[in-house]
Amino acid sequence: MSSANILTLALTVTFVSVIPHSSAFWLFNVVFPPNATQPLFRSNDTPPLIIVPGNLGNRMEAKIDKPTLVHWMCYKKTQDWFPLWIDLNMFMPIGVDCWIDNIKLVYNSSTRRSTNSPGVEVRVPGFGQTHSIEHLDTHRLAGYFHTMVQHLVNMGYARNETVRGAPYDWRLAPNENEEYLSKLKGLVEEMYDQYQRPVLLLGHSMGCHYVLYFLNQQPQAWKDKFIKGFISLGAPWGGAIKTLRVMASGENDGIPMISNQKIREEQRMVTSNPWMLPFVDVWPKDHVFISTPNASYTNQDYQQFFSDLDFEDGWNMWEDTKNLTSALQAPGVEVWCMYGVGLLTPVSYIYDDKYPDSDPVEYVYDDGDNTVDTLSMSQCKRWIGQQEKPVHVTEFRGMPHLDMVFHHKVLALMQQILEGNSDTPEEIDCRNDNVQKSSHRDS
Ligand SMILES: *[C@@H]1O[C@H](CO)[C@@H](O)[C@H](O)[C@H]1NC(C)=O
Ligand SMILES: *[C@@H]1O[C@H](CO)[C@@H](O)[C@H](O)[C@H]1NC(C)=O
Ligand SMILES: *[C@@H]1O[C@H](CO)[C@@H](O)[C@H](O)[C@H]1NC(C)=O
Ligand SMILES: *[C@@H]1O[C@H](CO)[C@@H](O)[C@H](O)[C@H]1NC(C)=O
Ligand SMILES: *[C@@H]1O[C@H](CO)[C@@H](O)[C@H](O)[C@H]1NC(C)=O
Repeated sequence: MSSANILTLALTVTFVSVIPHSSAFWLFNVVFPPNATQPLFRSNDTPPLIIVPGNLGNRMEAKIDKPTLVHWMCYKKTQDWFPLWIDLNMFMPIGVDCWIDNIKLVYNSSTRRSTNSPGVEVRVPGFGQTHSIEHLDTHRLAGYFHTMVQHLVNMGYARNETVRGAPYDWRLAPNENEEYLSKLKGLVEEMYDQYQRPVLLLGHSMGCHYVLYFLNQQPQAWKDKFIKGFISLGAPWGGAIKTLRVMASGENDGIPMISNQKIREEQRMVTSNPWMLPFVDVWPKDHVFISTPNASYTNQDYQQFFSDLDFEDGWNMWEDTKNLTSALQAPGVEVWCMYGVGLLTPVSYIYDDKYPDSDPVEYVYDDGDNTVDTLSMSQCKRWIGQQEKPVHVTEFRGMPHLDMVFHHKVLALMQQILEGNSDTPEEIDCRNDNVQKSSHRDS
């Protein structure tokens, strides 16, 4: 108890004092989300809502009885489930090695399936509730969907009832998460039965690809009956270039005290990363994503990319997942596609001869939300005219990737949609909204 409190304190102090304000720090956004403002109007005529979070976007728990340890200080066996994500111990110097050894997946290239690290059981808490996506840690410090859910509650929604979360094992792509997808279908039907109205699905970032994959699997008649629509926030519809960097040299996303090259060990083990490599049909064949003194990698060179990294399983994982959502088959429900634009976003990473064991030395930027480029996010526009149901696209100028889940202008637009006013503006200007605490860049 008291040691947990000390850790909590250490974590908070680190966030406040050590991290430079400019760092690419999604956790920093997450730790102190703004309070929801109290809307004037409460509606009881709103659709039930299910939220599907992004990569790293819900809690996971583990229970271990390990045959071997990477370090004698790691726990070998636990009686109870303990937090695996976010695990405050991972911020300690040795803790990170224990953490990686617990959270990593083992990929079997002959069965094409991933399993947990030997002796580790993993579960996702809170399916159908909101707590596991509102805060990522049990101390409720690292807020994620908290501001949005509170806003919905202020509008008249009830947690765990009319608004629910659908957390999942985000280490896996949907081809290895069949059970989750059938639970999601069950949840939609349950909420439909309970409230006698179609359910709205809301995704953030990679969660939107999960929603798309799910909808693509359902017959149109099922969607017409059960689904009110799909709100997608910051979806990398054409894949995410950042994923190449993540797998090459690692990217700690601003998590303090963990080097990029250290966290790369975990990042190479998850199949959701190769799934999100830039989609082949979206990018020009000659666009170089990664440039090193010896080689240039475009979307034609993924096999070479993995082979040069000595990471052949990455290629296998890509082959397993590459056509899950890359066809961008229209979802067949009314869509509100919202994303940030107008911020510099890396579209090529340039390395020196220390590749892949050090960070890029230069970047080529294009327009985006500082994490995903506009070319990728705007791919939802292709659905206009491809499906009978309307497709509404709103670009938030100056809005960083993570702020999509709690910015007041996003919440206000969502409220309008939930209250039945489905027409949305094509652009909303957020440039003067003064959200400096999220002034990211990628380096
Ligand atoms: C946010 O909410 C918390 C808890 O309700 C409250 O203590 C705090 O003062 C609020 N902050 C702002 C800026 O309103
Ligand atoms: C992969 O799975 C096959 C079939 O279950 C098994 O025989 C093989 O030992 C596994 N490979 C590894 C490296 O675990
Ligand atoms: C939602 O469910 C969680 C887990 O059972 C519980 O802790 C929380 O209090 C519930 N929230 C509400 C508002 O009922
Ligand atoms: C680049 O080529 C040189 C010379 O062949 C070699 O020593 C070096 O390891 C290569 N670097 C990478 C990153 O492949
Ligand atoms: C990819 O798509 C092709 C053609 O649609 C299909 O035959 C194949 O099974 C798919 N591969 C995977 C891994 O889903």
